[in-house]
Amino acid sequence: MLTARIAVLFVHVTAVIVALGGSLFSTFALAPILAEELEPAARIRVLRRVIRRLGAIVLTALGVLLLTGIVNVVYLGAIPAALIVKLVLVAAVFVLALYQYGNLGAEIWRLSAAGPNPELLALQARFRRVGLMVGGLVLAIVYISLGLTRGGALR
Ligand code: HEM
Repeated sequence: MLTARIAVLFVHVTAVIVALGGSLFSTFALAPILAEELEPAARIRVLRRVIRRLGAIVLTALGVLLLTGIVNVVYLGAIPAALIVKLVLVAAVFVLALYQYGNLGAEIWRLSAAGPNPELLALQARFRRVGLMVGGLVLAIVYISLGLTRGGALR
């Protein structure tokens, strides 16, 4: 049955797909191909645009997750223990994603303005590590979320 509750849940899950899919694609498909196929100067130019665009997409998706998540809680009408664990992990994801795009991404953006720079390699490696942590946490959150309404958490 299509209801407002299902519509909100649909937007919530779509935001998960956008945030996780975008990050996984850039880490495992785009970044290695750019490293192999492009000269350093061109790679930096593409990287700058990817970080800007992906940052806007991922941070917007997290905002949508927060808003629709609050509505989900209202529909659920309870705060089971699994939800509290999930919210702690969600808080960690928000902090890490803001650090990844707001801090590391901005620093990569600033340093790369003048072309290739040796400091960029370490920053890019940290950007990737933080991205993988965010991806792992999001997968754990998805697993916990699946149990929220169907794993007996409300019984
Ligand atoms: C990284 C952030 C988040 C991820 C990856 C995530 C993931 C998910 C997924 C995959 C589901 C669907 C589970 C299912 O029914 O099959 C779900 C449901 C739910 N989420 Fe989130 N979520 C996030 C953030 C939030 C936030 C911030 C809140 C609350 C403020 C929230 C509250 C809920 C609730 C209450 C449900 C159950 C809805 C229902 O079945 O009626 N989520 N979440």
